[in-house]
Amino acid sequence: MSDETFLVTGAMGCIGAWVLRNLVAGGTPVVAADLATDPVRPSLVMTPKQLAQVTFARLDITDLKAVQTLVEQYRVTHIIHLAGLQVPFCKANPALGARVNVVGTVNIFEVARQLPGQVRGLSYASSLAVLGPAHLYRELPVPDNVPLYPATLYGVYKQANEQTARIYWQDWQVGSVGLRPYIVYGVGRDQGMTSGIAKAILAAAAGRPYQIKFDGPVALQYTDDMARIFITAARAEYAGAAACNLRNDVVTVSEFISYLQAQVPQAQITCVPASPLPFPADLDDSGLRAILGEIPHTPLPTAIRATLDLFEPLLAENRIDLSQLDS
Ligand SMILES: NC(=O)c1ccc[n+]([C@@H]2O[C@H](COP(=O)([O-])OP(=O)(O)OC[C@H]3O[C@@H](n4cnc5c(N)ncnc54)[C@H](O)[C@@H]3O)[C@@H](O)[C@H]2O)c1
Repeated sequence: MSDETFLVTGAMGCIGAWVLRNLVAGGTPVVAADLATDPVRPSLVMTPKQLAQVTFARLDITDLKAVQTLVEQYRVTHIIHLAGLQVPFCKANPALGARVNVVGTVNIFEVARQLPGQVRGLSYASSLAVLGPAHLYRELPVPDNVPLYPATLYGVYKQANEQTARIYWQDWQVGSVGLRPYIVYGVGRDQGMTSGIAKAILAAAAGRPYQIKFDGPVALQYTDDMARIFITAARAEYAGAAACNLRNDVVTVSEFISYLQAQVPQAQITCVPASPLPFPADLDDSGLRAILGEIPHTPLPTAIRATLDLFEPLLAENRIDLSQLDS
């Protein structure tokens, strides 16, 4: 029997759903915590039998006492902290964004500090949005430890989280691995500034035209790879406070569209020209490699095929809300 119990915060989100899927596949006990209670995204990527193996708990991450109670009650040994509000939501409500993204993360570290013999491993979602525009970084690929110049409140909050992690290691030896995804794509990625990559695959499967709102170079992380990276990073029980860049597939949006159209030749996918995202894409992931050994990576064409294969039956069963393609 496993001596591990994972807590996944933000488990109803896109990455959370895939983390649950992978943990259940490996037979690891997992508590799925989220403010939302309807497992819409997990049910897109897991069978009812797999879902039945998850312990679901409603949790507001801003409530320290509630986080403490949950971690103690289930004797959680590893935490994957994903709960957060994305760029548009932080912009729309900065105070709520700070409470969820910053205070929520402090609460996770605080509980790990209070239960040092129990909580052994912690990984959490930072973001590439901690970095500034590409022209600020001369050294390529961009290392982990460059100066951070976030251009959004969301990025500022993620930067605060990386600094929180640093101080919890410095003062109390709470170890952690922060991960900086760029664009995570796959089934369940239905919101956020960079969800256009996943939506383009959905549109291709649904036979709808779709325009991705950005172009230029990006780094793409497939949902299944991202989930396995979060799990392995928590299991590393890292002694330090790492904040790690990710690469996986560094391509232009036009190249991504070509890969997609190679599999769905009739797909009508375009991107808005001359509108690159304000981040560098050529990122050095050697810091993460040093912690994980090998970084889980499904080649882009294989991941696109797997995503199409998941979308097709879901569309046939009318289980995907296609209104997401309007935003
Ligand atoms: N998807 C990406 O490309 C990407 C890129 C960089 C960073 N990230 C970060 O990774 C994490 C997960 O991303 P995702 O795409 O799965 O996001 P998501 O928006 O799909 O999921 C976030 C989840 O957090 C939950 N949540 C919000 N407020 C909460 C609260 N007060 N208490 C508990 N739960 C709450 C939401 O209900 C949601 O289920 C986020 O922190 C995000 O900022 C994602």
